[in-house]
Amino acid sequence: MYTNKNYKIEKDFLNYIIHQDYYKFLKDELNKYTQHGNTSIFKHSRDVAFMSYKMGSFFQNKFNAKIDYKDLIQACYMHDLFMYDWHEKSDWHKLHGFTHPQTAASNAEKYCNANDKVQSLIKSHMWPLTLTKIPKNKEAWILCLCDKCATIIEVFHWH
Ligand SMILES: [Fe+2]
Ligand SMILES: [Fe+2]
Repeated sequence: MYTNKNYKIEKDFLNYIIHQDYYKFLKDELNKYTQHGNTSIFKHSRDVAFMSYKMGSFFQNKFNAKIDYKDLIQACYMHDLFMYDWHEKSDWHKLHGFTHPQTAASNAEKYCNANDKVQSLIKSHMWPLTLTKIPKNKEAWILCLCDKCATIIEVFHWH
């Protein structure tokens, strides 16, 4: 999914989107765990960020939609910052799908100083599983959709 050209665009983009200290923290932390198949959570998050950036640009160019890239990309990189291995067998991990958006939002605030909007984008990314956490704005819908697309690609090993 990542060509060198895409990777360069994304890296340039990151230079001003995410504070480099937080980026380093996220990279180290999210590389400790795998998401689906053998994709690390870091790679999953980076793919979600890149897809969201592309989808945001599309809406901006096509419909003149104003996209808040700073908050959107930060939320993408932090949306699965739950900081444990959800594959390990334990009773509360069965609830992972429902609880991890809240955990990730709290960690994003604690470790990366995420603002209220970024936290709210993170909290709604698992909708409709988390029924009451409906995406509230364009950025929230983009993250919610791109997370599902990236997950399907990982589960079926299409990347
Ligand atoms: Fe998630
Ligand atoms: Fe995710």
